[in-house]
Amino acid sequence: MKIAIIGAGNLGGALGRSWAKAGHTIIFGVRNPGVGKTQPPLAEIGASASSAMIPDAVRVGDVVVLATPWQAVNEVISAMGDVRNKIIIDATNPLSLNAEGSLSLSLGSSTSGAEEIARLADGARVAKAFNTYGWENFANPGYPGYGDLKPALFHCSDDDEAKEIVEKLAKDLGFEPVDTGGLGMARSLEPLALMWIRLAIRNGRNPNFTWGVLRR
Ligand SMILES: NC(=O)c1ccc[n+]([C@@H]2O[C@H](COP(=O)([O-])OP(=O)(O)OC[C@H]3O[C@@H](n4cnc5c(N)ncnc54)[C@H](OP(=O)(O)O)[C@@H]3O)[C@@H](O)[C@H]2O)c1
Repeated sequence: MKIAIIGAGNLGGALGRSWAKAGHTIIFGVRNPGVGKTQPPLAEIGASASSAMIPDAVRVGDVVVLATPWQAVNEVISAMGDVRNKIIIDATNPLSLNAEGSLSLSLGSSTSGAEEIARLADGARVAKAFNTYGWENFANPGYPGYGDLKPALFHCSDDDEAKEIVEKLAKDLGFEPVDTGGLGMARSLEPLALMWIRLAIRNGRNPNFTWGVLRR
């Protein structure tokens, strides 16, 4: 699959490296192709990765993964061009930092970043996924160390094909995809990301834990 990843920072770079190892082609959609944060993942991935201006990456991608800061989302979606019928996987979190330096979600509980993105990205089919862990957990496909349990990858969308693609991409990274329902469930998945961040900080910034689903 050709995956257009918008943003080549911590998260975009880690996802790109791991999906490339799983056999996908990566096009990083960035403001300045080939320079800055894009350079390390491009150099590491080699021939199966390239970088392009955002609308060019979106045009060629079979799927678009959004991995920019929440504060850039408006500008980035405007830059994408025609996104009608495109599948956009939103991996952002609408985080803001208060004056005391503590993180919170900036949109309240009556909407979510994913729903706002669906509103902005006219005609796109939006899914929420890959937002509930730090990038370190996406950087190492296979995930040795969790015993028989696979880490859970919670996702949601109103579009069945978008869900299928998320599930395939999650399995390629060694996760167990967990379909949580329609896009409105992003109102639960974004706070879950905040909980993960707070626990990681509480544990001395240790990112080596994930959510798992125990069934009986
Ligand atoms: N980091 C994580 O572990 C993690 C995990 C889950 C979800 N997330 C979410 O993923 C998103 C990205 O986080 P990150 O840590 O990867 O950020 P990051 O390392 O700062 O990278 C951000 C990327 O977005 C690009 N960008 C920033 N502003 C832009 C704009 N106005 N137009 C176009 N591109 C722009 C940057 O490009 P330039 O180099 O040109 O600035 C860079 O490639 C955030 O929403 C975050 O909440 C992060």
